[in-house]
Amino acid sequence: MSVVEKFGTMEYGPAPEDAKESLLWLDGRKRRFGHFIAGVWHDPAEGKYFETADPSTGEKLADIAQGSVADIDAAVSAARTALPAWQNLSCPTRAKYLYAVARQIQKNSRRLAVLETLDNGKPIRESRDIDIPLVARHFYHHAGWAQLLDQEFPAHESCGVVGQIIPWNFPLLMLAWKIAPALATGNTVVLKPAEYTPLTALAFAEICNEVGLPAGVVNIVTGDGATGEALVKHTEVDKIAFTGSTEVGRAIRRATAQSHKKLSLELGGKSPFIVFEDADLDSAVEGLVDGIWFNQGQVCCAGSRLLVQESVAAKLTRKLQARMSTLRVGSPLDKSIDIGAIIARVQLERIESLVKQGIAEGAVCWQPEIVLPSRGLFYKPTLLSNVHPTSIVAQQEIFGPVLAAMTFRTPREAVELANNTVYGLAASVWSESVNVALQAAAQIKSGVVWVNSTNLFDAACGFGGYRESGFGREGGREGLLEYLEPAWFKRAPALKSESISANGNTPDVVVPTTVIDRTVKLYIGGKQTRPDSGYSIPVHGAKGELLGAASLGNRKDIRNAVEAARKAEGWGKTTAHNRAQILFYIAENLSQRADEIKARLTAAVGAKQAAAEVQSSLERLFSYAAWADKFDGAVHSPPFRNISIAMNEPIGTVGVICPNDTPLLGFFSLVLPLISAGNTAVAIPSEKYPLIAADLYQVFETSDVPGGVINIVTGRTSELLKTLAEHDDLDALWCFGDSATCSTAKALSAGNLKQTWTNEGRALDLFSVEQGEGRTFLQHAYQLKNIWVPYGE
Ligand code: NAI
Repeated sequence: MSVVEKFGTMEYGPAPEDAKESLLWLDGRKRRFGHFIAGVWHDPAEGKYFETADPSTGEKLADIAQGSVADIDAAVSAARTALPAWQNLSCPTRAKYLYAVARQIQKNSRRLAVLETLDNGKPIRESRDIDIPLVARHFYHHAGWAQLLDQEFPAHESCGVVGQIIPWNFPLLMLAWKIAPALATGNTVVLKPAEYTPLTALAFAEICNEVGLPAGVVNIVTGDGATGEALVKHTEVDKIAFTGSTEVGRAIRRATAQSHKKLSLELGGKSPFIVFEDADLDSAVEGLVDGIWFNQGQVCCAGSRLLVQESVAAKLTRKLQARMSTLRVGSPLDKSIDIGAIIARVQLERIESLVKQGIAEGAVCWQPEIVLPSRGLFYKPTLLSNVHPTSIVAQQEIFGPVLAAMTFRTPREAVELANNTVYGLAASVWSESVNVALQAAAQIKSGVVWVNSTNLFDAACGFGGYRESGFGREGGREGLLEYLEPAWFKRAPALKSESISANGNTPDVVVPTTVIDRTVKLYIGGKQTRPDSGYSIPVHGAKGELLGAASLGNRKDIRNAVEAARKAEGWGKTTAHNRAQILFYIAENLSQRADEIKARLTAAVGAKQAAAEVQSSLERLFSYAAWADKFDGAVHSPPFRNISIAMNEPIGTVGVICPNDTPLLGFFSLVLPLISAGNTAVAIPSEKYPLIAADLYQVFETSDVPGGVINIVTGRTSELLKTLAEHDDLDALWCFGDSATCSTAKALSAGNLKQTWTNEGRALDLFSVEQGEGRTFLQHAYQLKNIWVPYGE
């Protein structure tokens, strides 16, 4: 046999990683684990345990405590007790703890990697070379942030006690993404790992004790969804950070709406992997291996939708199938395995069922002729082609090693297909032309775009989604903000519960618009329009006198306004300089009408406040004109041959519920940051004095504000809020009002998971620059997209 023939028949021999040390670790704990609360192991209050098993063999690994309400209560109370001392530590001292954790993870990296692979079924190559090194990197990076916290985030405070719930696909990595920024910013933590993969979190608990982390700073309670729910609902928790399914994310949005809990959600995805005809196809094929077969495709940002330009589709498919035939599926502990086990039988059945449905809808299924292990939970790498964009396999997250392929003809069609999803987590774009790649990257609606690369993560770069992939970022400066609050915001007193009728307006009275001469109309798409209802509500002054009437807007008016705002989204693509010019122009025109506006406003809020509102509104206009081209993103430097460009992008179309007590300044304080950032707005002005809208129309009309950029619908806040919050084509909702109004906004926004920002029912001093304008407002007016661009050889 010649060398060449021998080479052709050469097979990989098994190269198993030795699991002895990890198994000894399990044995040393008698394969039974309680909860880690206040630095001590506790038996579960109700005495219940469940099993965790190795998905590649089905063998039981250990018994795990099932957390109950009482266990969560004990853990939250431990975190609360530990909070003041932890918050008051100096920055360098907190940093030292994080460094120590990072070091200890590195020292134990092999044992942790094996434990992760045993519990999760992912190839040891991945847990050893990707998961655990990134865990250590995350703690090192955030040790640095702990050191710099006071310098870089002055006048900010930690949220307090943070509840964190993580999934099973990257158990220790998700723990690091959650715990490192929380501790760096002075929060204490109760973390619930996923029920399928609790082991590395429990090993991490030991590391906390080994480095002498003060008791109660990190608490780990194991259990299922019910345990997670108890944590979400606990009244002493100040923030919830969740990674998992969109469905549970939605439930958590609703469950936290009645509280002031801060919330970040990292949810599902259906990320496009776009291959243009000028791409390096061999690299793109390797990218696909990492994009969809990494971690068996159980990755929220998996490149699960292949969009390939028609001219190269056949060629790419041939190359891809050849590569798929060389993928090795088998024992995850084998170092030469590419694809390990699926986490659980229910997930495997879900994958099988979705693929069947896809085939029934016309997809052509191709799998390589490889032999799967005889036991354990495995699924072949799968290519579904001829997939219709509306097919279930193109729309739903499969969370398995299944690629759904579609073709496109033009770059424009590629972007349309890419955005044809409710998700917006990540995207990969492959082209040798920097123009084509970056043009697509700018247009795709997702929090991360990898150019000629895929599934790259780093502690310095924010990760998180647009749309129903959630809100908030993890990693880098942007991720830290999720665990901090400006002190003025956190400490603001509660606003009195608002009742409009107490101010003289009688919400129950409506009159036909024809009865009162001067009825303020609605302002939609740049035009003054009559309300659909044909009715108006009387508006009274501070002394109860009738000042005029405002149109009674309804559901249909809101829908028209959202449509107009959506059509005007070209505003976000105008240059920031142009947006600034228009804001200056508004200021000029407001200034010319200052006296008459002041006089009318006086009837509602008194002369002193009216003068102050007009003056502050003018200043606010100048501020946001100034900000329009200055709220820059960043260029991150991850430790690869890449840069990650963190771009601030407008969120899109945003609903605005303006505060009641400052009719003019309240309107400008919320609407200006949004339009300065390039969003379009549908605003509901103060119900107390909606007549201000009439003055605003005239100012906007004379200031070249393009029609549809600002839309105003007057009426009853409670009714209009409901329609706005439930509107599926609205991207975000800002609501400043009393506590009940804010809760309603949050609860009703859960449908399409629109980003919701409220004053949490607090009384903010909008007249002050600190509380009324600036970075905090702008941070909520933009969303960050991280575009990873390779450079160098
Ligand atoms: P899941 O969303 O149910 O579980 C994630 C975590 O949330 C687990 O720790 C779980 O115990 C907890 N949880 C469940 N219900 C809860 C509730 N009502 N309140 C608080 N916590 C709760 O995800 P699951 O069932 O493990 O997977 C189902 C599907 O979700 C997958 O097929 C996949 O499509 C998606 N998924 C997405 C992930 C991502 O990273 N985006 C991660 C895991 C799953």
